[in-house]
Amino acid sequence: MRLIIEDTNKHAGQWTARYIVDRILAHQAKTDKPFVLGLPTGSTPLSTYAELIELYKSGAVSFKNVITFNMDEYVGLPEKHPESYHSFMWNNFFNHVDIDPKNVNILNGNAADPEAECAEYEERIQKAGGIDLFLGGVGENGHLAFNEPFTSPQSRTHVQTLTDETIMVNSRFFDYDVNKVPKQAMSVGIATVLDAREVVILALGPKKAAAVKQCIEGSVTHMWPISNLQSHKKGIMVCDELAASELTVSTYRYFKDIERASLL
Ligand code: GLP
Repeated sequence: MRLIIEDTNKHAGQWTARYIVDRILAHQAKTDKPFVLGLPTGSTPLSTYAELIELYKSGAVSFKNVITFNMDEYVGLPEKHPESYHSFMWNNFFNHVDIDPKNVNILNGNAADPEAECAEYEERIQKAGGIDLFLGGVGENGHLAFNEPFTSPQSRTHVQTLTDETIMVNSRFFDYDVNKVPKQAMSVGIATVLDAREVVILALGPKKAAAVKQCIEGSVTHMWPISNLQSHKKGIMVCDELAASELTVSTYRYFKDIERASLL
């Protein structure tokens, strides 16, 4: 596993966006098949999306031959609601690049049959050839997508009941009113994320420090879904200094040294 520690949120976003563009270009040099990209929402990926948009505008990358699958969506929130993950993705990323709307996949949180929607989403991922790179964030309690603590590592796309803690944390997007936060979400499973050929997880700010410590230095445990990243053969965590602040000095130095060495 790689751990990239950048000094600021902005630099972590730039590193991540450039890495994604690099992977898209490397893929396109080998094949005409679309690159399949898994994407998250939340405040964390905003600096990455901003940089991806800049790279697109500068002509460094096109998203025409990219298929995306989002990680999750609230159940029962209208698509047009400003806090739906549909709105988030179009406002913060898709509207600013040349992606074909047909290639955008986001779970339908208003599906009449939520279980069927989840099963069909997994099928769609398979039909697209699997996910080349899954970008994710992490919750303060270590959740991955909306896979809350104690979710099975074998989980697939499913309806997830949110913990009180997540509802409270996410209430900042809903006027700090926990009653306005949907109580359920649809989420890709942990196995869905781990099936991707590469997984890149972003963790920014001091509130993510405990999750970063567990993911990097703890054991793989269902109490911290993010710790499953350890079992991926191409897992990368990208954090800023604040999110790295609970790591032991020796761990911090190891990853700084090894990344510096890889640049030589
Ligand atoms: C949400 C999302 C996750 C996201 C996490 C962190 O609940 N479902 O996919 O990684 O919370 O959000 P933020 O980046 O805003 O801290």
